[in-house]
Formats: sequence, C-alpha cells, structure tokens
Amino acid sequence: MAVRLEQSMEGKVVLVTGANGGLGTYVTQGFLDAGATVVGTSREIQQSDFSSPSFTALAAEISSREGAKSLVDQLVARFGRLDVLAHTVGGFAGGQSIVDTDDDTFQRMFDLNLNSVFHILRATIPALRQTGNGRIVAIGSRAALEPGPGVGAYSASKAAMVSLIRTVALENKDAGLTANVILPGTMDTPANRKSIPNADVSKWVQPATVAKLVLWLASEAGKDVNGSVIPVYGKDA
Ligand SMILES: NC(=O)c1ccc[n+]([C@@H]2O[C@H](COP(=O)([O-])OP(=O)(O)OC[C@H]3O[C@@H](n4cnc5c(N)ncnc54)[C@H](OP(=O)(O)O)[C@@H]3O)[C@@H](O)[C@H]2O)c1
Repeated sequence: MAVRLEQSMEGKVVLVTGANGGLGTYVTQGFLDAGATVVGTSREIQQSDFSSPSFTALAAEISSREGAKSLVDQLVARFGRLDVLAHTVGGFAGGQSIVDTDDDTFQRMFDLNLNSVFHILRATIPALRQTGNGRIVAIGSRAALEPGPGVGAYSASKAAMVSLIRTVALENKDAGLTANVILPGTMDTPANRKSIPNADVSKWVQPATVAKLVLWLASEAGKDVNGSVIPVYGKDA
C-alpha cells in the first residue's frame, strides 16, 4: 500500500529513527514519496535500504547521549536544518510478571523505549525549534495506556515516553513546534507474522495507515495538533 500525502514535503529535512524497521520502512518511503530529504537511522541501516537519491543512511545507537548527539550533529552539518523528527525506535518484551521480570529485560525496555526518545529529543529540539514549525511524531503503543499482565516493563517504558512527548509539546509551542505520539495496536509487520503465526491478521493495524498519520501530523495540515496521544487500534478498538 503506497503512503501518499497531498501536500509536498519538498525542502523539508526529516529524520526517521528505526528507518529499516517494520513501521519505519513505510514512514521513510512515505516521506521520500512526498519529496522530503530523509535521513534514516538505526544501528544497522544501510544506504542500499532505500533507492531514492533523497535518502541518506546514518547508522547510530540512539539509546545513549553520545550516539544521539553525534547523529544529529552530522545531520545538521550536512543538511543545515532539521524540520521533522519521526521516532519509531522501540521494542517489545513480554511474558514475565513483575515479580519475575529480570533486571536486563527491565533495563532493555527502558533503553529502547524511553532513553532513546529522551536522547533523540534532547539532541534534535534545538534544530527543530529554529525552523519555526518543527514537528515531532513519536510511536508509543496501546500498552502505554492499557497495561496487561506480563508486559509491565514494556508498558511502563511506553507510558513514560508518552509523558516526555507531552512535556516537549508544552515546552516548545512558543517556537511553533508540535509534538505528538501515536499509540498503535498490534501491527501487521513481518516480525509479528513470524512470531504470532495463527493470529487473525485482519484485526491488525496496517503499518501504512500509521505511516500516513505520521506524515499528516508532520505536514502543514497538522500544525494545530499538538500534545495529542492518538490511538490507532484497528478492528480491536
Ligand atoms: N509491531 C507492533 O505490533 C507494534 C505495536 C505497538 C507499538 N509498536 C511500536 O512501534 C514502533 C515500531 O515497531 P516495529 O515493529 O516497526 O519495530 P522493529 O521492526 O523492531 O523496528 C525497530 C527499529 O528500531 C531500530 N533500533 C532498535 N534499537 C535501536 C537503537 N538502540 N538505536 C537505533 N536504532 C535502534 C531497529 O534497527 P537496528 O536493529 O538496525 O538498530 C529498527 O529499525 C516501536 O516503537 C514499537 O514499540 C509496535
């Protein structure tokens, strides 16, 4: 399914984190199709992951201050500006009650889902503010609002990242910057098809649907939407 935006994003510089992920692939291709200059990052991103000349791969580990800062420094040095941050980095762990949750799993969930967003926000906000209409769109999870048994570390890390995004929305509205967070339900990604083989996939959310919402929020049309927490639950709503 193609992700198309009616408005062009030509001239915009967009940073997509998790650009080679199940959702990030759609988000990256959607911004490229809309005419944006896109920097895609992940630990393993390759220039060959996207064929467009408007795509630049910059590999980074963004769960650390240094990794996120060095990435954004390189981006700004090369392109001179940053208009949009689309943050899709995140990951899941489940199956352990709180009593059984080991330290490594708890730490990994917070590194992936909270520390990554904190470091990338701190590194990008100064450049995003400078444009006068910067955009931040982050991907949380339904579990941020609806914790379930066995997913405590994941839910807590996503709930905390929602709180950070809402704070950023309040702190930067003076600069015309918007920050919103989308909460998908289970998405129809190759990884989910593999790990949950007998599921009714018709109930799952299409990544292209989430990607279209990311693009819309990042566009001029989305300028009045700030600090929102948007559920996208598909047929399980
Ligand atoms: N899939 C679902 O059903 C679902 C449901 C609700 C919410 N979500 C959320 O939606 C987002 C996207 O999910 P997804 O299924 O597309 O995830 P995914 O396929 O696992 O992609 C995660 C991406 O993050 C990158 N990444 C992981 N750790 C990183 C780090 N420390 N530094 C830099 N990059 C890192 C990965 O690439 P490298 O390995 O190359 O670093 C990959 O590009 C996540 O935030 C997830 O929690 C997913």
